[in-house]
Amino acid sequence: MTLRLGVNIDHVATVRNARGGDNPDPVRAALLAQAAGADGITAHLREDRRHIRDEDIVALTRGLKIPLNLEMAATGEMLVIALKARPHAACIVPEKREERTTEGGIDAAGQYDRLQPIVSSLGAANIRVSMFVEPDRRQLDASKALGAPVVELHTGAYAHAPAGAERDRIRDAAEYGASIGLEIHAGHGLTFDNVKPIAAIPQIRELNIGHFLIGEAIFIGLDTAIRKMRALMNEART
Ligand code: PXP
Repeated sequence: MTLRLGVNIDHVATVRNARGGDNPDPVRAALLAQAAGADGITAHLREDRRHIRDEDIVALTRGLKIPLNLEMAATGEMLVIALKARPHAACIVPEKREERTTEGGIDAAGQYDRLQPIVSSLGAANIRVSMFVEPDRRQLDASKALGAPVVELHTGAYAHAPAGAERDRIRDAAEYGASIGLEIHAGHGLTFDNVKPIAAIPQIRELNIGHFLIGEAIFIGLDTAIRKMRALMNEART
């Protein structure tokens, strides 16, 4: 099974917004990522618009040939935007205004009633829904019950302690999720140094990677950073 690389371009927009102008342009970064072999582009339209903005999503849906994965909070406002933009996929993430980045998975099990109408509206519009969850069977069962075809396993805890038991939790969750018919993705905090043990898990079909690649682009360029990540993922798979 091939392993896709989704490149998250949020932090190109973070740098742009630091000065309030148009540079650097996240859409240009997305097109460069596409040319470098990314299989998809991920962008998180946050409630506070701290990085990606509404007009970036419109431009991405118009300009890209590869699929766009819109990360979004499960709110009415985001649902309206997603149904208008019609990205290939939507990844439902928890969102807290005061957090620096997405700190944990969504509680698919505890918030079934709130999530269900959003997941089903997106699905009815042919947008492939993934639930960004902790590697925990309860959350996988709940994602399945919600009707989401995909889960993205949160690798943040693994990224903080790659030598510990977290990799096993992700492997077990990937095996279990695939066994109940979910497509398995993973992401958050992945780097050149920690990607291979995750990429080697055979049930995982897609990795979404952003912050490290955009940071590394300062030193070696975005094209080279993406190609190197791709090569490490391929090595892990063979
Ligand atoms: N997947 C999801 C659902 C995320 O929220 C993020 C961070 O925006 C990522 C993947 C990428 O994480 P990172 O930027 O740490 O590579």
